[in-house]
Amino acid sequence: MNQEQWTSVDRYITDLLVPEDAALREATRSSTAAGLPSISVSPNEGKLLHLLARMCGASRILEIGTLGGYSTIWLARAVPAGGRVVTLEVDARHAEVARANFARAGLDGIIDLRVGRALDTLPRLAAEGAGAFDFIFIDADKASTAEYFGWALKLARKRSVIVVDNVVRKGAVADAASADASVQGIRRFNEVLAAEKRVSATAIQTVGSKGYDGFALAVVTGDV
Ligand code: SAH
Ligand code: DHB
Ligand code: MG
Repeated sequence: MNQEQWTSVDRYITDLLVPEDAALREATRSSTAAGLPSISVSPNEGKLLHLLARMCGASRILEIGTLGGYSTIWLARAVPAGGRVVTLEVDARHAEVARANFARAGLDGIIDLRVGRALDTLPRLAAEGAGAFDFIFIDADKASTAEYFGWALKLARKRSVIVVDNVVRKGAVADAASADASVQGIRRFNEVLAAEKRVSATAIQTVGSKGYDGFALAVVTGDV
């Protein structure tokens, strides 16, 4: 098994089941052209987020880590009329690319992009009473994932769904001695997740066009 095979199978799946329209293709193209890192979710992962959000009937979605807005577009397309997506991004250049992509996708009316460190914008959201969010996708700097999860719980309700990207990191997550701050951040998050009595959770390894990684999936089962 190698990257070439994972990429060709992802292409096969995506061609069959996940046709991208012009807005999604343009989101990827413009992000690459602007020099943004190629770390957005893959098309089939984007569709997975979209389907999960639809399965739980989400109309209010929170995303932490926008980049060029590729995953945001998939999420925004899952919400019914009157729904809303709040997405948080620290990098003004990423935000500018994302804003153009939301406008091109006709989604700028339902996406609220907030620029700033998420650890600053999350408390502001809470103070505004912006919750409760039905679905929360955590995909920003990995070192702060445990803190983002804490804020996600504050902004959630019973039965909210929380998805956390990049929890396997090419398998490095199982290496307690890893010197990588992202890996240690995810390990710390996994411990918080395991100890958190108000959620039920699992994590899944994935391979595909973006390599070997995985995501955690949690549902709020207690009062938050
Ligand atoms: N969800 C996107 C990918 C996000 S990449 C997609 O799948 O399409 C991670 C993003 O988190 C980057 O754009 C990065 O600038 C942003 N980020 C990093 N640290 C952050 C912070 N402290 N607060 C908010 N966003 C942050
Ligand atoms: C990284 C971040 C991501 O959100 C991702 O999907 C892949 C990689 C990173 O920071 O390396
Ligand atoms: Mg990610």
